[in-house]
Amino acid sequence: MEVIVQPTPAEAARIAAMLIARAIERKPALVLGLATGGTPLHLYDELVRMHREEGLDLSRVRTFNLDEYLGLPPDHPASYRRFMKEHFFDRTNIDPRRTFVPDGLTQDIPRHCREYEELIESVGGIDIQILGIGSDGHIGFNEPTSSLASRTRDKMLTAQTRRDNARFFASPDDVPNSCLTMGIGTILDSRQCLLLAFGSHKADAVAAAVEGPVTSMIPASALQFHADAKVLVDEPAATKLKLRAYYDYAYRHSPVLQ
Ligand code: GLP
Repeated sequence: MEVIVQPTPAEAARIAAMLIARAIERKPALVLGLATGGTPLHLYDELVRMHREEGLDLSRVRTFNLDEYLGLPPDHPASYRRFMKEHFFDRTNIDPRRTFVPDGLTQDIPRHCREYEELIESVGGIDIQILGIGSDGHIGFNEPTSSLASRTRDKMLTAQTRRDNARFFASPDDVPNSCLTMGIGTILDSRQCLLLAFGSHKADAVAAAVEGPVTSMIPASALQFHADAKVLVDEPAATKLKLRAYYDYAYRHSPVLQ
């Protein structure tokens, strides 16, 4: 894994946006895997800015979101479809027909999950997967003990995740207890992963994912098996990393990033 520490979330997000913009220039029909939550907001803002001010063309890009709450209609204020529409899709020239978010209202979960996987495969797989990390080390909604080979499926949320995400709902009791999520195997199939993590409350999860053993107790540690995973963090999220000096040296001497 390549760890890039930046002074602020905005600076880390700028690097991620630059990598995505370059990839779109090379391949206009890029397939992007998208994440929700507070973490990717700077990244979406920067991509929107690049679209408006620098002509970044997203019209042929396809997007697949990692996850969705079960039981929430797409227009629910806390649904991930609505989140993506407000923070990203409606602010760019992305074609809504090329955006995919798991359907939280599906009546046939196994079939819907199978079709989601087949759709990703039919467009050639995900080129760049954006990821956040839960304070318990989850990616997507793959909670601790998720199979490292898992595919898109339904998953029960932990009490901690429901507490962490309660701020997006009118009341903590409104947080659904289950979701649909790409699996860890699905995420590992993407060609590149960009994991973003900001704030001191992510420091333990980041250190465990990057420098700890690979374990389903820290689902993000599975990224150690990914051939091209970059971890972009701000200073507070980097405080528990042991090899910090090495990461900084590698970043300063990276021909791709400098
Ligand atoms: C949710 C999402 C994850 C996200 C995590 C972190 O659980 N399903 O994809 O990474 O929250 O959220 P935040 O970025 O708000 O800290």
